[in-house]
Order: sequence, then C-alpha cells, then structure tokens
Amino acid sequence: MNNLYKKLDIRLSALVRHLIPCDTTADVGCDHGLVSLYILKANLSKNVVCIDISPKCLQKTQNLLQKAKLQENATFIQGDGLAGAEDIPINQIVIAGMGGINISNILNAMPKLSQDARLVLQPMNNITLVRKTLNSLNKTIIRDEIVFDKNKYYHIIVAQNGKQKLTKQQIRCGAVTEDYRSADYQRWLELKVKKVQAIINAISKDNEKYPELNEYLNDLNKCKF
Ligand SMILES: C[S@@+](CC[C@H](N)C(=O)[O-])C[C@H]1O[C@@H](n2cnc3c(N)ncnc32)[C@H](O)[C@@H]1O
Repeated sequence: MNNLYKKLDIRLSALVRHLIPCDTTADVGCDHGLVSLYILKANLSKNVVCIDISPKCLQKTQNLLQKAKLQENATFIQGDGLAGAEDIPINQIVIAGMGGINISNILNAMPKLSQDARLVLQPMNNITLVRKTLNSLNKTIIRDEIVFDKNKYYHIIVAQNGKQKLTKQQIRCGAVTEDYRSADYQRWLELKVKKVQAIINAISKDNEKYPELNEYLNDLNKCKF
C-alpha cells in the first residue's frame, strides 16, 4: 500500500481520501489508471468501472491493472461520460482532471441506474457551473475543498443525494463553509481577492460588470478567517 501512495501526487491523494467503501466505483476519465488501481488495491470496491473517451488513455488503465493482476475486477469502457455504462449499477463516481462544462454534461446525462451514486469531482475550471449543476440535480455538496499542488489550486467537490439551497456566496466561493478553514483555501482566497480587486481597479464605476465584481469581492472577503 505504501508504494501505491507514493504514486499519487497531492491532488490525487486528496481526492482518494474522499472515496468510501462500496460495491462499484466508476473512474470516469481514468487515463493513467492510478485512481482505479488505488480503489482496487485499497479494497474500496469489489469492482471498478474504468471509462475514458480516448482509447489510448483507456489502454493505459488496462495495462496498469493487468500488471497488478486486477483486471478481472475491472470493466473497461471507451465512451463519453457514463454512456456505455447504463446497465451497471454504480455506487460511487469519480470524475477528476476534466473541465467543469464537461463534468456538468456528464452529470446531466447520468444513467438512471447510477443516479444515486456518491460523486467525487475534481473540476479544473468552471467550478461555479459544477456547483449549480449539482444543485439543479438535487445533490448536496458535503465537501468542497481546495488543495495546492505543483503551483496550482485544485477544487475537490463531494456530493450525494439530497436537496440543498446554496447562497450566491456558496455557489461562487465554496458550498461547505467548514472547508474555508484550510490553509490552502485561505491562500486561494487571498489570490482570488487580489485578482478581482485588480480587475475592479482597472474598470470604471460605470462599467456594467462593476456591481457584480464588487459583490464577488465582498463574498470572497467574507470567507476570510
Ligand atoms: C487530464 S486527464 C485526468 C486523469 C485522471 N482522472 C486525473 O485526474 O489525474 C482527463 C482524462 O479524461 C478523459 N476524458 C475527457 N473527456 C471525457 C469524457 N467526456 N468522457 C470520458 N473521458 C473523458 C481524457 O481522455 C483524459 O484521459
């Protein structure tokens, strides 16, 4: 198990911490296969559904699991999101390292059998859209963290079934106020505040974006500890 952890960078280590034991986990956008390998090696799931839109990337996962002699616990699907996995009841879905629009499209097209799955998401951008999509699909965001790895901030969102009414501040800054307490989140806030302040300083008060940007800046400042 130690060797397995060594292969995971800070982003992926933070991501896999949110996985819980269940029968079947899907790794959508599996690529290198490290998350799928972790799920099986850590006995988090009996079965892993490895999905990638790119045949080459899917092959990487297949090779890795074959090398670890774990391919019999895996189903390999080349496809867009969960299309192709409609007949498999999935309890937990990981979608990491993809853009927020892509993730939102995948969530909106969730097959019926997997609609109750716990979601562990790591969108690379358009985080606000992902939160809004989860809200519109009646999912509750239970963790909404930021981790710093290799000079970049990454968002990790965990969601499960349940209605949740997020405020505008939560949609823009993070749904789970407890997660604001982390050092990485506070550093991300400082950076974001500087960026938004710089934009505000560069535009005139008559600019139509001025009120919205000011509101955003206030929201960001309210999250500071
Ligand atoms: C940057 S890699 C991320 C790999 C891994 N999940 C991680 O977080 O390290 C993104 C992967 O998602 C795949 N991908 C992109 N869009 C997809 C989609 N709509 N459905 C399935 N896979 C997709 C890409 O082919 C690529 O292998």
